[in-house]
Amino acid sequence: MVYFISKSKRGKVKTVSEYYTITQTGGQDMAKENVVIFDTTLRDGEQSPGVAINTQDKVRIARRLEGMGINVIEAGFPAASPGDFEAVKAVAEACERATVAALARTSREDINRAWEAIKNAKRPRIHTFIASSSIHMEHKLHMSPEAVLEAAEEAVRYAKSLCNDVEFSAEDASRSDRDFLCKLFVAVIEAGATTVNIPDTVGYAIPDEFAELVRYVIANTKGINKVVVSVHCHNDLGMATANTLAGVMAGARQVEVTVNGIGERAGNTALEEIAMAIRTRSTSFPVEMAIATEQIVSISRLVQMITGMPIQPNKAIVGANAFAHEAGIHQDGVLKNPMTYEIMRPESVGLTSNIMPLGKHSGRKAVIAKLREMGYVLSNQELNDLFAEFKKLADKKKVITGEDLEVLVSAIVKTPETFRLDYLLVAAGTDIIPTATIRIINNDGKIVKAEFGNGPIDAVFNTIAKITSSKAELARFSISGLTGGTDAQGEVIVCLKENGWTAIGRGVDPDIIVASAKAYLNGLNRLEYLRANPPVVSPNDVLS
Ligand code: KIV
Ligand code: ZN
Repeated sequence: MVYFISKSKRGKVKTVSEYYTITQTGGQDMAKENVVIFDTTLRDGEQSPGVAINTQDKVRIARRLEGMGINVIEAGFPAASPGDFEAVKAVAEACERATVAALARTSREDINRAWEAIKNAKRPRIHTFIASSSIHMEHKLHMSPEAVLEAAEEAVRYAKSLCNDVEFSAEDASRSDRDFLCKLFVAVIEAGATTVNIPDTVGYAIPDEFAELVRYVIANTKGINKVVVSVHCHNDLGMATANTLAGVMAGARQVEVTVNGIGERAGNTALEEIAMAIRTRSTSFPVEMAIATEQIVSISRLVQMITGMPIQPNKAIVGANAFAHEAGIHQDGVLKNPMTYEIMRPESVGLTSNIMPLGKHSGRKAVIAKLREMGYVLSNQELNDLFAEFKKLADKKKVITGEDLEVLVSAIVKTPETFRLDYLLVAAGTDIIPTATIRIINNDGKIVKAEFGNGPIDAVFNTIAKITSSKAELARFSISGLTGGTDAQGEVIVCLKENGWTAIGRGVDPDIIVASAKAYLNGLNRLEYLRANPPVVSPNDVLS
């Protein structure tokens, strides 16, 4: 039995952080400096295997990031592909307050492409990088340290001639020679860099050592006091958040993060973990930030839906179990006083039941008003499609929650559909061989076929594979209830692999067999999309 504490009970008590603020500091806050929150969900996050975020979705995520107070949004790597260029340009033009950064290697072509994409932003930033560790310089770049130094300096000087705000990253900094790193930073600061970033590119660092590196750089780099020192950590050993916070304790004043910690391999430092650590342990950190943490759950769900990357239930802050109390002894303690087992209020991350009186009788205006409240502004066509889906769902489900609406929105704004489900009939039971009959629409018209399987879902997948002539291998399959109650919408996530491509497919429906068919088709559509829009540079080659 999982137990959630009601809002009214929480209202009577202080949070643990309020309690400790008063007991440890007598209520006096220490002097704080601002920490810049740099979100790279749309760039490093998009480098998660199988993830491709289209332009429209990038703009949706960027608007939400800006709305919650993120200072810098890294929108992509414009030189990687024409699609990435367009997406960065669209994000740059959509953001009003946040700085929009574009990534570039040190070549003039990359920097020109980055500048072209962001030059219309209210606050543009060029982010250029080159590797500084011996292993990368020798085996990947085939460049001497002197050549790397010259390329970095020249790139920053050129970027500065185009844009006032220039960030320089020394890729694989945590495995670089410290004195070479400082020499590199001195050169780029003299060339005009305004932020210098210390990445733990391969997630190799441990907190004490990483803090020591940040302190060393600050103490030994001439001109460092004129720029912002940034940290960018990967999670290969599960220490990205710890290393980032150690960096902050050592003097870093920019942290690079992604929503849900998505990113290359084991991912990047999670935005939600950093924001809630700084908020919950405010007396322990010398920094403050202006992030509306109440929007964390909603943006986490949006990113989960758009990327199709599921969140593990025990994930800190945003996992389904993060605020659930299972053990009787814990439930008893929380009932007596939530501070016994709860260090954060669920409301502080925006976790509420989110039930709203929308249903079968709700009109278009009520739906539009709720969408606005949730931060969605859709085109007329999208609203028409959404409202039609809303009415269909309202026939099956009495109350439509905010989560249901999020699911509908994500289904409307999606990957181009090469294959579309038109009809599905499944026969299954104790004395019958599971059989599926499916009709799919593609560019050539409608195709209908039937196939057997070991179970109903296997029969559905076999039939779809037969119709689409797909040879994709099903590498992962998961089903979960997306919303609460017995009339919940089921969510199916599949991971498909074919000829070196990997794609995540997602399907949502109150019927899990239909959700499975939708997920499989969504995965095939993503594979088609990847094949038609291959990245010019494989992100795995040079970035992490
Ligand atoms: O991990 C890394 O080194 C990067 C840089 C491009 C900042 O992502
Ligand atoms: Zn990275």
